[in-house]
Amino acid sequence: MRTPIIAGNWKMHKTVAEAIDLAHGVCSAVENVSGVDVVLCPTFTALSAVKNIVEGTNVGLGAQNMYWEVQGAFTGEISPVMLAELCDYVILGHSERRQYFGETDEGVNKKIKAALAHSLIPIVCVGEDLTQNEAGETETFVGGQVKAAFDGLSPDEAATVIVAYEPIWAIGTGKTADPAMANGIIKTSIRGILAGLYGDSVAEKIRVQYGGSVKPDNVAGFMAQPDIDGALVGGASLKVDSFLALVEGSA
Ligand code: PGA
Repeated sequence: MRTPIIAGNWKMHKTVAEAIDLAHGVCSAVENVSGVDVVLCPTFTALSAVKNIVEGTNVGLGAQNMYWEVQGAFTGEISPVMLAELCDYVILGHSERRQYFGETDEGVNKKIKAALAHSLIPIVCVGEDLTQNEAGETETFVGGQVKAAFDGLSPDEAATVIVAYEPIWAIGTGKTADPAMANGIIKTSIRGILAGLYGDSVAEKIRVQYGGSVKPDNVAGFMAQPDIDGALVGGASLKVDSFLALVEGSA
């Protein structure tokens, strides 16, 4: 049985003061919720402050990106060792990183390996754009991203990774994928590919989230799908009320 996981991707929102407020609000709101893992992913600048708030609560902490080297002359980058001091999760290969900052499948794979080597749980994002979707290329494209992401990972490592299926055309647009369709993509192009690589028992352990305009009024439809184990949430994670509704809708 896979425990659902709801992760709030705050993206480039919230000053440290605002992040502290939101984290306090979320922690007290979800205090009595069980049966779902809740993770907050603030910007790097707010990680340390939010760490102090989530410590000792049922809320986990993640970063939004990471470089794969341990240390060195890489101005502006953050290493797995640095993150391991602060948090347990790291979002890797988000489509905004791939789209605006030139991240490649190969780089994402290196980041996943580096994260695992430092006991960080990667939340690895995959998903097609509108053109690929309309051309009927979704399954091939997403399957390729999954194979590249998991390249060289042992079965134990693979089982730790969380995958987020986020169709790019659904992110921040208010358009969501049809839950049954998203489940179908996850089943064939994510869990199916992973079963081919590692066998059914490993593939059944890997948690796969849906992401892309998940809101309180549509979360239930996604959570009802057998292969969807939670959500990676942008916009609706920026307010306590809407985030709480998602968490409660997933428990
Ligand atoms: P959204 O973002 O919920 O605002 O669509 C999801 C994401 O990018 O992780």
